[in-house]
Amino acid sequence: MPKAVSSAGKRTIRRIALSTGGGDAPGLNAVIRAVVLAAHNQGWEAVGIRDGYNGIFLPEQYSDGGLIPLTPERVRGITHLGGTIIGTTNAGNPLKFPVKQPDGTVAEVDRTDELVRALHANGIDAVVAIGGDGSLTIANALAKKGIRIVGVPKTIDNDLSRTVVTFGFDTAVSFATECIDRLHSTAASHRRVMVVEVMGRYAGWIALNAGVSATADVILIPEIPYDPACIAEKIQERYARGRTFAMVVVAEGARAKGGAYSVVEKKAGSAERLGGVGERVAAEIGKVTGRDTRHVVLGHLLRGGSPTTFDRLISLRFGAAAVRALAAGKTGVMVALDPPKVRYVPLAEATERMKVVPLDCDTILTARELGICLGDSGK
Ligand code: F6P
Repeated sequence: MPKAVSSAGKRTIRRIALSTGGGDAPGLNAVIRAVVLAAHNQGWEAVGIRDGYNGIFLPEQYSDGGLIPLTPERVRGITHLGGTIIGTTNAGNPLKFPVKQPDGTVAEVDRTDELVRALHANGIDAVVAIGGDGSLTIANALAKKGIRIVGVPKTIDNDLSRTVVTFGFDTAVSFATECIDRLHSTAASHRRVMVVEVMGRYAGWIALNAGVSATADVILIPEIPYDPACIAEKIQERYARGRTFAMVVVAEGARAKGGAYSVVEKKAGSAERLGGVGERVAAEIGKVTGRDTRHVVLGHLLRGGSPTTFDRLISLRFGAAAVRALAAGKTGVMVALDPPKVRYVPLAEATERMKVVPLDCDTILTARELGICLGDSGK
């Protein structure tokens, strides 16, 4: 017998929708599988909205429909797969939907009322929104408009507040560490300085954790604007000690003291795209030290591949917990890891401010105590 529940004043849940929004992250498919199986166990039907909310918002774009029926059979064997079987997008945020104006300019328009109507028209009783700060801000807006919704924290950047970690981060850090390990031998063979740029937007979690783990000499993160002279000094001092190469890890959001973020592009309806700081830092190091320097951008490689065991497990736990929350009548909350528990925190709090690296955290202290240069004078 279906165990569909009713929560005060709300319709009994019969049909839920899943949405994956923003950049993909390893573990998305594991969350989808957990939500679908747990929902099935409750007697609920599950559908996946294609590409964020586009499938329900712009169904005419999809020849076979914007909603994908998600049965237990459909989610079989996907736990270990990267990407998302329902698609995602980081364009067309319904809170800031890009709409061309008569004068040719593009304005950002709030279309969440239309989205609410479309969810009702499609018989969706509740939504599991899997995403980062952008997607969960949308989820919070939908919750305020009466949609029963639970968020799941996804992002390789780990920059969401009120959860110890987001899923996808561990896989990204593990892969970045492996890549930096691999770059050691080529750097040493050619006596080069190697600069590795990693993603992370305005937070330095990936750069810091992978850089310390892979024994980088210099790590530049957005939280500590760098002084090129400090980097050069560290590299020259290392060579003076007889070492023949140096490894520099740079977060894409790193910037020089008094400098700006390295922005590649800003389009209406999307977040600004960062990139290019690794190349700039490599050129600066080459110029100041005279050392042969190369740069590598790991970029989207960090978003691909199979999730680590840690990411698989928290993804499955998050997915099951999201369904548990809906079954208990919760809405407007995000599932969050607070070891050993998974808890529920208000979406408003999770999206209120970005979680950046605290300058007094243990990993920063460890980096400094191991002699890693963080781009400043080390205090
Ligand atoms: O938020 C995840 C992330 O991978 C960031 O680290 C990066 O800045 C951004 O997405 C890039 O997104 P895309 O290239 O898909 O627009």
